[in-house]
Amino acid sequence: MRIQNAMTLAAAALLVLAACAPQEQAVEQPAPAVEETTQPVPEAAPPEPMPLTASATLQPKAGTNVGGTVTFTQEGDAVRVDARFQGVAAGTHGFHLHETGDCSAADFTSAGAHFNPGAASHGAPTDATRHAGDLGNIEIAADGTGSLSLSTSLLTVAPGPNSAVGKAVILHEKADDFKTQPTGDAGGRIACGVVQAAAEPAPAGAELAPTGAEPPPPPPPSV
Ligand code: CU
Ligand code: ZN
Repeated sequence: MRIQNAMTLAAAALLVLAACAPQEQAVEQPAPAVEETTQPVPEAAPPEPMPLTASATLQPKAGTNVGGTVTFTQEGDAVRVDARFQGVAAGTHGFHLHETGDCSAADFTSAGAHFNPGAASHGAPTDATRHAGDLGNIEIAADGTGSLSLSTSLLTVAPGPNSAVGKAVILHEKADDFKTQPTGDAGGRIACGVVQAAAEPAPAGAELAPTGAEPPPPPPPSV
């Protein structure tokens, strides 16, 4: 009896569905969304601008006056890294992006290991296989200054697994040999800076708070 009832119900349901089908198709109309989006919306806030540049200001190891700035600029699928240092001992110094944006330890070990989202081995910035954070060496002149400019496709400024934002740049006391794993044997850490995103300049007339580094507010709770 139960099976019979179930089958009768199923048959009835099929009939109902069949009867409804043409009606449903007839109701299906494209929503007039295009028309709405083309209307000007004067009161709505513009979307949060994607940060396309980020920078770090180097802090020196205690007792030294090493300083510098590093900027990261998204250029298509690559990121250009520009670094300038002063107050550094003349010679060759390894320079990396490390995985943790924390320069609180006196020896900067709080910045952790080289940033390595691809689980690769350490190398030179020109090597196909390398840490995303392997930015090579900087030559410091006799006056204590030096600079570096390179482009890497292993980093982004925009949020994502390879984003440089929230990581730490580290200048080392020695040269990176591009061979020793996983550090390049670059010695101690003499300067450290946390990479922070910069918001795009606000368009003229817009009243935007400088909140580029913060995520957008969460959506209202669903019912
Ligand atoms: Cu390093
Ligand atoms: Zn490395």
